Amino acid sequence: FSLKNYNTFGIEAKAQKFISVHTTDELKTVLEQHPDDPKFILGGGSNMLLTQDIHALVIHVDLKGKRIIETSDDFVWVEAHAGENWHEFVLWTINQDFGGLENMSLIPGNVGTTPIQNIGAYGTEIKDTFAYCTALEIATLQTRTFTKEECAFGYRESIFKNEEKNKYIITSVVFKLTKHSHKINVSYGDIAAELTQKGITTPTLKDVSDAVTAIRQRKLPDPKELGNSGSFFKNPILPKNDFERIVSLHPEMPHYIISDTEVKVPAGWLIEQAGFKGKRFGDAGIHKNQALVLVNYGNATGQEILDVARTIQQTVYDTFGIKIEAEVNII
Ligand code: EPU
Repeated sequence: FSLKNYNTFGIEAKAQKFISVHTTDELKTVLEQHPDDPKFILGGGSNMLLTQDIHALVIHVDLKGKRIIETSDDFVWVEAHAGENWHEFVLWTINQDFGGLENMSLIPGNVGTTPIQNIGAYGTEIKDTFAYCTALEIATLQTRTFTKEECAFGYRESIFKNEEKNKYIITSVVFKLTKHSHKINVSYGDIAAELTQKGITTPTLKDVSDAVTAIRQRKLPDPKELGNSGSFFKNPILPKNDFERIVSLHPEMPHYIISDTEVKVPAGWLIEQAGFKGKRFGDAGIHKNQALVLVNYGNATGQEILDVARTIQQTVYDTFGIKIEAEVNII
C-alpha cells in the first residue's frame, strides 16, 4: 500500500498493511485483532519524513466529529476528534466567534497529532487553549484522559514525544475557547503590519486568521503543490553564556530572550546564513522563502531529504557552533 498520499512530504514509501479506522470502536477492534503486529499510527502525516517502507500495520486514525461540550458565561469547551483537519476545525471555531485558535490558522495536519508536538505559530501554542485529550492505551485498550499538566507541554514537546511515546493513540482533543473578551494577539512578526495594510484597527478573530493565512501562504509552500512538513528543524534554545559568546561573533543574529538563562535563535536565519536558502539537490531542496522548510520537488526519497538535512546541520554547526535538531519525526 503506497503512503505517498498520506504524508505531506509526498514521499513514496509502502506500508506492509494499512487500515483506516473511523470510530474508536473500530480502532479497538483493529488493535484486538492484531495483538502481535508491530503498529504504526498515522494521523495527517504532516510532521514526518519516511525514509523507508513501514514493516508494520499502519493504522490511519480517521475519527471525525466536532462539537460543543460545555459552556460557561465566558468560555466554551469544544471537542474535535483526532481525524478532523486542523485548519477546518480552526475555521469552524472562528465562524462561531470562539477565540483562541486564530493565530494557528492554516497549520497542516489533523487535530489528533496537535498535542504530540504542541503545535504553535505567531505567538500561540495549543497548550494555551488545550483543556484535555482522550487517548486509547495500545497495550491495554483502556481509554484515559490527559490534562494539560499531564501532557507536560514544552516548545514543540509533550509527554507523547517522551515518556509516553508510541504508547497511546489520541482519539479526541478538547479546547477551552473564549466566547467574548477575546485575547487578540497580533504582537508576533508581520501580523500587525498585515492588518494595518488592510486598514484594520480593531481586528476580529476572522481578521487575525485571514492575516495569518495570508502570511503563511506567502512564506510557506502548500504541501499540495510542493511536498514539505513545515519547519524541518526546531529553533535552538541556547544557554545564555553560549548565546553571548556566539552573538559577539555574529552581532546581527536575531534572537528572543525566553528566560534569564535561555535565548532562542531562529534556525531559519542560521540556515540562510549558511548559504542553503533556495538551494536544490536533485529533487530535495530548501524553500526559497523560508529556509527552515525542506521541500520535495517531486521524486525525492526520504533518505535524500535526510542527507540534505544532515548537511545543513553540519554546516550550521561548523559556521556557528550551534546544533539544530529535527522537529519532524524521522521514520
Ligand atoms: N529567518 C531568516 N531566514 C529564513 C527564515 C527565517 O532570516 O529563511 C529569520 C528572520 O529573522 C525571522 C525569524 O527568522 O524574523 C523568524 O522567522 P519566522 O517568523 O518565519 O518563524 P520561524 O521561527 O522560522 C516558527 C515556527 C513556525 C511558525 C513560525 C511563526 C518553529 C520550528 N517554527 O518559525 O512553525 O509558523 O514561527 O510563528 O518553531 C512549523 O512548526 O512547522 C512551523 C511552520
